Amino acid sequence: MIARAAANGLKVGIRGIGASVPSRIVSNSEIAELVETSDEWIVERTGIRERRVAEPGVGASELAVPAARDALRAAQVDASSLDLVIVATITPDMPFPATAAFLADELGAGKVAAYDLQAGCTGFVYALSQAYGSIAAGLAKRVLVVGVDLLTKYLDWHDRGTCVLFGDGAGAAVVETVGEGGFLGFELGNDGSHADDLCVPAGGTRAPATTATVDQKLHTMRMNGREVFKFATRVMVTSAERVLGIAGMQPEDVDLYAPHQANKRIIDHAVRQLGIPSERVILNVDRYGNTSAASIPICLAESLRNGMLRPGTTLLMTGVGTGLSWGSALMVWGDAVSGSHDGARG
Ligand code: ACO
Repeated sequence: MIARAAANGLKVGIRGIGASVPSRIVSNSEIAELVETSDEWIVERTGIRERRVAEPGVGASELAVPAARDALRAAQVDASSLDLVIVATITPDMPFPATAAFLADELGAGKVAAYDLQAGCTGFVYALSQAYGSIAAGLAKRVLVVGVDLLTKYLDWHDRGTCVLFGDGAGAAVVETVGEGGFLGFELGNDGSHADDLCVPAGGTRAPATTATVDQKLHTMRMNGREVFKFATRVMVTSAERVLGIAGMQPEDVDLYAPHQANKRIIDHAVRQLGIPSERVILNVDRYGNTSAASIPICLAESLRNGMLRPGTTLLMTGVGTGLSWGSALMVWGDAVSGSHDGARG
C-alpha cells in the first residue's frame, strides 16, 4: 500500500506529541543474573544498555495516559475535541475490549470512536496512516494516535534470545490539519508467510489459555531472531526508498530519520544502504531497548526536546515488526507543534 499524501493540497500533520516510560530501569547486568548473557554481548549485538520495565498490574492504557495527556497539552487541545482514538499495541490491557476504549474514557474523550490496531513495531506508522486517511476522507478532524507496548509482560525471562531485547513505553500524537508542512506519503506492507517468526502462540482462539499452554510457556514471545533480522534489514531500506520515491525525494533530502529502535545493527545497516548521514539519525535503543509501537513516537518526543526536530524538518519514519509488517511515513514537521517527554512514569 503506497500513496502520496497532500496531493489534493490538504495538509495533515502532527500538532502535538508526548511520550512516557516506566521509571524502573533494568540494566543488562541485571538480566545477566537471570540468563547466560553479558552486558558486552548485548551491547555488541544490539546496542542496548538498559530498558524500562513497568510494574506488575500496570497495563497499556495506564502507561499511555500520561503520553496522551502530554500530546494533548502540547497541541493545546482538550480530549473532548477528539473524533477518534487509535491505539497501536500488541500488548493490550485485555484481549477485548480495545485498550483505546479504556484510554479514551480515562482521558475524558467522551463517546469518541476508539479502536486498537495490531501491527507490532510498525503500529505507530500504520496508525498515522489511518489518522491521515480518516481526516482526508472527512471522517474525522482531530485524531489521537497512540503507540504503546509493554512487551516485558510477554517475555520468557529464561529465553536469552528475546528477554534482552525489549522494554516498555508509550508515545502519542495529535493528528489534524496544519498550516505548514504535513504528511507527504506512506508506504505500508506485510508478509504473512513469516507470521510465525515472531508471535505469542497461545491465548487467542487457536489455542485458548489452558494449564497446558501455561506450563509450555506458550503465552510468551517466540522469535526466530535471525529471520527477523534478515527481514528487517531488507525492508527498512526498501520501504524508505519507496516512500521517498512516491514523494519525488532522495535520501539526501531527509533532514531527520526516525527508524524503529529494534537493534543498532539493523539501523546502522539501513542508514548505510540509504546513505543518510548518522548525525541525521535518531538513536535511543541504548536507553529503552525495543519498545515496539512506542519506539518512533518516543524518538519524536525526544528529538523535539533536544532540537533535532524543528519546524520545516523533513522527517522520515520507518517501522518493522511482527506480521511481519513494515511501514514508512514521510512528512515535513509543521510550525505549530511542540512536544514533551517526561521520561519516568508508570
Ligand atoms: N547472550 C549471549 N548469547 C546469545 C544471546 C544472549 N542474549 N542470544 C543468543 N545468543 C547466542 C545464540 O545462542 C548463538 O549461540 P550458538 O552460536 O552457540 O548457537 C549465538 O549467540 C549467535 O546467535 P544469533 O541468533 O546468530 O545472534 P545474532 O547476532 O543474530 O543476534 C539477535 C541475535 C540480537 C536476536 C538478532 O538476531 C536480532 O536482533 N534479530 C532481530 C530481532 C528483532 O528486532 N525483533 C523485534 C522485531 S519488532 C516487533 O514487532 C516486536
